[in-house]
Amino acid sequence: MTRIYSVINRKGGVGKTTCAVNIAVCLAAAGKNVLLVDMDPQGNATTMLGVRKDLGLGTVYHLLSGTKTIESVVMTIHLPSFHFIMADTDLVGAEIELVNCKERERFLQRAIGTCGAAYDFIIFDCPPSLGLLTINALVASDRVIVPLQCEFFSIEGFIQTRDTIFWINRHFDKSITMDAILFNMFDDSSEKRNFIHEFQSKLDESVATWTIHYDHQVNIAPSHFKPGVCYNPWGVATREFQDIALHLIETNRRTS
Ligand SMILES: Nc1ncnc2c1ncn2[C@@H]1O[C@H](COP(=O)(O)OP(=O)(O)OP(=O)(O)O)[C@@H](O)[C@H]1O
Ligand SMILES: [Mg+2]
Repeated sequence: MTRIYSVINRKGGVGKTTCAVNIAVCLAAAGKNVLLVDMDPQGNATTMLGVRKDLGLGTVYHLLSGTKTIESVVMTIHLPSFHFIMADTDLVGAEIELVNCKERERFLQRAIGTCGAAYDFIIFDCPPSLGLLTINALVASDRVIVPLQCEFFSIEGFIQTRDTIFWINRHFDKSITMDAILFNMFDDSSEKRNFIHEFQSKLDESVATWTIHYDHQVNIAPSHFKPGVCYNPWGVATREFQDIALHLIETNRRTS
């Protein structure tokens, strides 16, 4: 059974792309058939994976606008089980074009359609907004992963993200669950430990939480057009991404 995740947080720069790409690569390295979709017009996941944006390849924009089929925009890169749909700035246009369309929130879900069943995991890397692109990703998903940083403003971003999921569930007859919260760029300080402790005490117990350490190699990996787990295979964050991927495989084995 295919599990479809959105990696989402309204707040920018918290590590959505870093987590989405690295977890997706770890899932594929563990033998799972994975489709990662870059839903952000910034195209950071596309850059991180070393995919050139100047070759006129099919993108999420083509998929959403109905000008290309899913088969023609999916590329298989780095590993035989790792599949990817790229994005570039054209995707800004999709958000504008969708505004006046009927059932505009379901375009992505429809475009993926039955082809989605070919994958064990589909992961959407969402932009830092709760606009139509994120809403399309959520409507097509059944779970979310929320990366955040251990700081005060994260709480507001988290509450807005959680409320959006409730809203989607109510309006689109969905039951999206929050599967994991990732406390990213953790540095072992007592300040951050206290933040996590307090945050966890207010969470529903069914939500798994993970810490991902700040790792300088993860930070510089995108400038080498590589995900952190490939650039620094023995790093502490790499091990954490691998553990999260194994946890997702394990929980999905139990629930499928
Ligand atoms: N665990 C980590 N260790 C070191 N650097 C990290 C880590 N996670 C993310 N970063 C760095 O933090 C910055 C922001 O990360 P990223 O682009 O993944 O965030 P984002 O939430 O996707 O941003 P946006 O909201 O713009 O899409 C990047 O420079 C990235 O390399
Ligand atoms: Mg991003």
